[in-house]
Amino acid sequence: MSSRSLSGIIPDDEKGYELDLFCVPKHYEEDLDRVIIPHGLIMDRTERLARDIVRDMGGHHIVALCVLKGGYKFFSDLLDYIKALNQNCDKSVPLTVDFIRLKSYCNDQSTNSVKVIGGDELSTLTGKNVLIVEDIVETGRTMETLLSLLSECNPKMVKVVSLLVKRTPRSSGYRPDYMGFEVPDWFLVGYALDYNEYFRDLGHICILNEKAKVKYKV
Ligand code: IMP
Ligand code: MG
Repeated sequence: MSSRSLSGIIPDDEKGYELDLFCVPKHYEEDLDRVIIPHGLIMDRTERLARDIVRDMGGHHIVALCVLKGGYKFFSDLLDYIKALNQNCDKSVPLTVDFIRLKSYCNDQSTNSVKVIGGDELSTLTGKNVLIVEDIVETGRTMETLLSLLSECNPKMVKVVSLLVKRTPRSSGYRPDYMGFEVPDWFLVGYALDYNEYFRDLGHICILNEKAKVKYKV
């Protein structure tokens, strides 16, 4: 039996779950190996991340900055949980949103260049408490690039939350302030993580099979 540790680390020998245990879209049934993080577990972990973030940043207005496109599901669910805390606690924190679009991936490979290809002017973040919301950190290059762009605009505080962090020798050593799960060096899809734009419309985080990598290659 595989063990999921309390620290959110998914081990290299994690077997996950057979596809038949859950509902996956018919159009992806042939493309996936296993479910690694079911949607419900993502939601439960996200609820707790919201609590930790509000505890640490809750004194001030937060600007949540969504890194598109992969971050949009996590961003939306995380903000819903922060909103629920705001509605139900004695203390509440005003929340505004911003978006940035970055691209670094082709097929299942991180490329060396990280491009900003859209979003609001970062200069609006000057003097603000910024929470960057990202889907997955692999080499760390995307986040390091964004953090250095952001620092030119002098925000008051910057924190990073990433749903996933990949355990990989290609890592620069960068670690976000908050993380949902640490995952093995696998290419994962679902819950807005894509392979050439496919699989964002899949609720669970899954492993793609080799056949699918060829089928959706560009
Ligand atoms: P990094 O710059 O190498 O840290 O890569 C981060 C970006 O690459 C993330 O924001 C994702 O968009 C993408 N990425 C990295 N690993 C995966 C994966 O396993 N599945 C889907 N996208 C990934
Ligand atoms: Mg991303």
